[in-house]
Amino acid sequence: MVTKILMVCLGNICRSPLAEGILRSKVNAEEVMVDSAGTAAYHIGEAPDLRSIMTARKHGINISKLVGRQFQESDFDEFDKIYVMDHANLSHVMGMARNESDKAKIDLILNELSPGSNQDVPDPYYGGDEGFEQVYRLLESASNTIVDKINDGRIGS
Ligand code: 4NP
Repeated sequence: MVTKILMVCLGNICRSPLAEGILRSKVNAEEVMVDSAGTAAYHIGEAPDLRSIMTARKHGINISKLVGRQFQESDFDEFDKIYVMDHANLSHVMGMARNESDKAKIDLILNELSPGSNQDVPDPYYGGDEGFEQVYRLLESASNTIVDKINDGRIGS
């Protein structure tokens, strides 16, 4: 079975495309499918923010072809795990959950880095390039734990 992971932020142009690209770079595409979405509709159909593209590129990851889309209810059926970047995303996605099984799929991604800490990935949209690099480092570390969990069966099947 392919394990399916969805990364969610507000716009699907800064944080979640980076998270998608980073995790995808660490897994076998035949075993793990990674996607991303935004809770808002502002950037549907758009490429990631240039600052995210450049930050990923600096680390050898190409996210320039990704296309923004909005989170939808059917994502609860499609994905095994839904990682949200911050508490606003968490409230939004939790609010769309239809049952306990949907809710159990959702977590703040930084809880993989520091379990139970309930920290947000800071929104870098209004800041400078260094904010994107900080986001990259946080997501890279969290992704290592996600990969470990996939490999030992704690995520997916
Ligand atoms: P993201 O960042 O949620 O990490 O993609 C943002 C992108 C766009 C906006 C806000 C945050 N915006 O207000 O358009």
